[in-house]
Amino acid sequence: MNIEKLIMSDRYSNSEQLLERALKSIPLGSQTFSKSMTQFPHGVSPYFAKKAKGARLWDVDGNEYIDFINGLLSVSIGYADGAILEAVKQQIDNGVTFSLSHQLEIEVAEKLIDLVPCAEMVRFGKNGSDSTSAAIRLARAYTQKDVVLVCGYHGWQDWYIGSTTRNLGVPEATRSLTQVFKYNDIASFDTLVEQFKGQIAAVIMEPMNVEYPASGFLEHIRRVTKDENIVMVFDETITGCRFAKGGAQELFCVIPDLATFGKGIGNGFPLSAVMGKKEIMSLMEDIFYSGTFAGETSSLAAANVVLDKVKNEGVCEHLETLGLELKQRVLKLIAQYDLEDYLDCVGHPSWSFLLFKGSKDITAFEMKTFYMQEMFKVGILTFGTHNLSFAHTSEDIDSLLKHYEEFFMSLSECIKSGQLVDRLECDVLVPLFKVR
Ligand SMILES: Cc1ncc(COP(=O)(O)O)c(C=O)c1O
Repeated sequence: MNIEKLIMSDRYSNSEQLLERALKSIPLGSQTFSKSMTQFPHGVSPYFAKKAKGARLWDVDGNEYIDFINGLLSVSIGYADGAILEAVKQQIDNGVTFSLSHQLEIEVAEKLIDLVPCAEMVRFGKNGSDSTSAAIRLARAYTQKDVVLVCGYHGWQDWYIGSTTRNLGVPEATRSLTQVFKYNDIASFDTLVEQFKGQIAAVIMEPMNVEYPASGFLEHIRRVTKDENIVMVFDETITGCRFAKGGAQELFCVIPDLATFGKGIGNGFPLSAVMGKKEIMSLMEDIFYSGTFAGETSSLAAANVVLDKVKNEGVCEHLETLGLELKQRVLKLIAQYDLEDYLDCVGHPSWSFLLFKGSKDITAFEMKTFYMQEMFKVGILTFGTHNLSFAHTSEDIDSLLKHYEEFFMSLSECIKSGQLVDRLECDVLVPLFKVR
């Protein structure tokens, strides 16, 4: 990245200075692709957070935002939640990582088994990639087959990322074992099942991201995987404890053999879990899946409270009700400003997407860049998704909609005058890596 090209702005000057410094010691200036300068337009974006509470985040320049990114959906309850912090602090006082296993591992595993339909046994990890990779190793061990079919995003490990455009560094031998099918496209799935008949160990998929499953789609995959002795894995890293207490499998009534949860189960503390049928999970004793920090107790203490809240405090119901209101109002505004050819609002209410549709005059990325520039200015932190947490309120949705109305008005004027690019105070974002 060309540091010199960064444009200094007053509103984000501390962020930009830190970015310039970060780029000297940290490739991309961030640990996470989605938080990096590849995703936030230069000169009009914050890059570094100072603190956050509830649904609000403050950047290092002191700008306050209502946060609709929420730690990339890891913050499910809200930043710095009192009860969660209390449990974590108590645990920290007693030690975090021990020489022996800890009872919290059992308690949190039992709570997941109680909530998640497919879960008979559970193992923890530190991030989603740990759990999806463990699921794939289990499936290969269980079926004694090697090929994996994927649909969605499943993390940074070779077996998955080799199937994307970001496959640099992944051996061809590994890449050839993973095949991609299209969501809601039964034919694309069936073609691969035929082509690799008898060789497929696992189908791993996000049960839903942008689109709702078409009628019969998930059921078809469930049926075929059963018939063909293929392990069906739902990657519920995002949807777990969000779409419903037990995840998308509960919402859509399709029960996979294995599931992976991550992100929100620790409300920002690093924890993930792979869970499923005892018959398959028991093979954990024969494969190798192990980590020094997998039973780390501060995250388990956080999850212990998160899972209680999910079970007893109407977390998923709140996300759904608020998100539904948000979606309906956004769609109404899109119609009001005649922007249906340019924008849409799709997805589950708890994780909805403002979709930018390119036209012959304006590309989707020009529109998205303009949107981010304008949203950040008015204190809305988003890159086009509405990642709700339990801390969001109706007032937060009112604020979002007020700013959306202003933005839709500007966008509509720009479209009529053909002047959108002139309104940009930065370079247009470049599409780099799309998995959804
Ligand atoms: C559906 C899904 N699976 C897996 C992952 C990987 O999780 P992590 O980044 O914690 O390794 C992600 C992360 O965005 C995800 O959204």
